[in-house]
Amino acid sequence: MTKSAQQSPIVAPHPLDFVSLGKIVQIRERLLSAQAGGKVVYRFESGDPSFTPPAHVAEAIVAATYAGKTHYIPNNGIPELRRALAEKVRERNGLKGVTSDDVFVTNGAMHALYVVFGAMLSQGEEVIIPDPMWTEVAENIRLADGVAVGVRLSAAEGFAYRAADIEAAITPKTRAIFVNTPHNPTGAILSRGELQAIYDLARRHDLFIISDEAYEDLVYAPHEHVSIGSLADEDDARVISIFSFSKSHAMAGLRTGYVVTRTPQLHDRIPKLLRCTINGVNSLAQWAALAAVKGSDATTIAMCDEYRVRRDIMIAALSDIPGVRPFVPGGTFFVWAELEQSLFERLEVADADALSTSLADDGIGSAPGDAFGPSYPDALRFSFSCDTAMVREGSLKLREALL
Ligand SMILES: Cc1ncc(COP(=O)(O)O)c(C=O)c1O
Repeated sequence: MTKSAQQSPIVAPHPLDFVSLGKIVQIRERLLSAQAGGKVVYRFESGDPSFTPPAHVAEAIVAATYAGKTHYIPNNGIPELRRALAEKVRERNGLKGVTSDDVFVTNGAMHALYVVFGAMLSQGEEVIIPDPMWTEVAENIRLADGVAVGVRLSAAEGFAYRAADIEAAITPKTRAIFVNTPHNPTGAILSRGELQAIYDLARRHDLFIISDEAYEDLVYAPHEHVSIGSLADEDDARVISIFSFSKSHAMAGLRTGYVVTRTPQLHDRIPKLLRCTINGVNSLAQWAALAAVKGSDATTIAMCDEYRVRRDIMIAALSDIPGVRPFVPGGTFFVWAELEQSLFERLEVADADALSTSLADDGIGSAPGDAFGPSYPDALRFSFSCDTAMVREGSLKLREALL
């Protein structure tokens, strides 16, 4: 029977119908088909670290395997890891009063977002997010039947997420303010002062803050990472913090992240979502995460130094191109470049989307601005998470393509 002739019952409309299949995935597919056609490809669309995890992390996986630590594990995470993470967030992130009961291990920060929005939001409740923002944040809000309300970041002010703009977006349905520093896609870092203003605002309006700190370890001096949760008093549980091992320890495929929350209602609901979605994160990944959090951070620091080298290569390549305005990121491994109409005219493409497609056909990956929200359709995001040789060679190709 052909597909079109198949019969199936009618499926009612569902929040999933409003979730995209992902523009970056489509660009990746174009790149891979360019590669199959013999082109050298430069993976500037992807956010996957080129590095391998530190040796002590790999050894912990092997040791846990041989020790038979491959059985079902506690739903919220193995106790050793939850204890170590509570200590880490108290000492490094300044989150006061956190105990291991407040830590929930998730299948990456992506799953942490799913779990937090799913456990918090009722139908139609709003979460304020920066625009542009990594696509999956709004998608996860929609999946939880919530509404993502974008606040345009100001390019003129280094993509600042200003409390005054956030306040203007608050309605009676607002439940939470979403904060992401370092920020994907721009690489902007929020200062202590900016975070304090957002925290004070959330307190005034009695809102939650969801703080996505997946890039906390990818910060280039003189910038520094401040966790907004560290600004809260010990008796204030409004800040929910999300972390990941994907970028800090190049463990993206091991899918390990965590949520830290002291909110009683979420303590009650999150374990239920964890049980019904994953029933605990892969045990070997958790032993790896324990080794990562307890071990030396020399590899993390070395990776960050190398990313800085790559950032400078890419920024140099994108500088002084008429119609291209790259933003120097203070963190992450992304360069966000605003593009002017004159560039589209000179290159004879309709817009940033068409440019991204044509670059992909030439083997150069990118992510179009409209994949990150409506505010910056005339922008492209280039990732420098692939290895340094690829960044070096690909940046030159990219410059040639845009000149
Ligand atoms: C801002 C942000 N949050 C969360 C994630 C999810 O990371 P993971 O699920 O790999 O931990 C990413 C991944 O790119 C991200 O950019």
